[in-house]
Amino acid sequence: MKERIVSGMRSTGKLHLGHYLGVIDNWVKLQNDFESYFFVADWHALTTKYDKTETLKQDVKDVVIDWLASGIDPEVSTIYVQSLIPEIAELNVYLSMVTPQNWVERDPTLKDMAKILRNKEGDAQISYGLMGYPVLMSADIMALNAQNVPVGIDQVAHIEITRDIARRFNNIYKTEFFNEPKPLLNKCSLICGLDGNKMGKSFNNDIKISDDEETTTKKIMTAITDTNRIRKDDKGNPENCLVAYKYWEIFGTKEEKAQVCSGCTTASVGCAQCKRALAEVINKKFAPIREKRRYYEAHPEIVEEIIRTGSDRARCEIQKTVNEVRNIIGMY
Ligand code: TRP
Ligand code: SF4
Repeated sequence: MKERIVSGMRSTGKLHLGHYLGVIDNWVKLQNDFESYFFVADWHALTTKYDKTETLKQDVKDVVIDWLASGIDPEVSTIYVQSLIPEIAELNVYLSMVTPQNWVERDPTLKDMAKILRNKEGDAQISYGLMGYPVLMSADIMALNAQNVPVGIDQVAHIEITRDIARRFNNIYKTEFFNEPKPLLNKCSLICGLDGNKMGKSFNNDIKISDDEETTTKKIMTAITDTNRIRKDDKGNPENCLVAYKYWEIFGTKEEKAQVCSGCTTASVGCAQCKRALAEVINKKFAPIREKRRYYEAHPEIVEEIIRTGSDRARCEIQKTVNEVRNIIGMY
């Protein structure tokens, strides 16, 4: 029997290349080797955006469309929406009882989130729900009793807490019911944003999976290069090219990279020309994904059907787990 994987992404709307390279590409490669569950974490989105819900429905759809376009196969993987499965919230209640408060207060990822939010929007924005972020995430994973969780490196601290909660639950109720899930990291290098910082929607430095070729090219032309190379006939150094060459490293073939290096160090190729070529390579890679995306965008009823079917299937499995948990604890 195949082991299970489960992973989720917050419903932040259209996804960028950081999501694609850091997470989705990994899911696509793993989906056949595991019994795979992928969900949109719309409750997790609410932990920070409970007062900005106008686009929530569309955001959920956009995330699913990006997954489908990127190669998550709904015939192979179960795709679902967290909030369509109330049993996850029920499990969250049980897990919250066995989780010591200082475990969530120590969570480094949560601390960072809270700090950013506090600076931007003030203390009141940090809700009780946000403090429960790692427990809810544990409920997501444990609801399917998954053995593995394919995530980006930034989520590993959360999964450590999940392992601790699973172990503590098992100890308290003298059971071996829950697995201690392990993170499955992928090898791909992290892609930075156009300005050299972490790629993110809110930093305005991202390239979206859904961007068209023209937009992509325009954005790539703004990518940071070797800042010592001021004029075209200055010789450049790819090692000091903080964004454009980093992208070449991710997307270029060996030959292309060698060509870029020689063009750069001899000043026979200018940065603009170099970046136009880079944009072409990236556009070529994403052309089939973007075409598939346009298909799903034109057929919202198909997307809706995939979400409903997947959520029914996931709910069925999750109900089994939560019924067992009720029995183990001794609920009425
Ligand atoms: N916290 C994850 C993120 O921000 C999303 C997430 C929610 C998740 N629940 C999960 C990931 C369970 C893996 C497993 O991307
Ligand atoms: Fe970077 Fe290319 Fe310019 Fe060299 S030529 S600095 S690799 S953008």
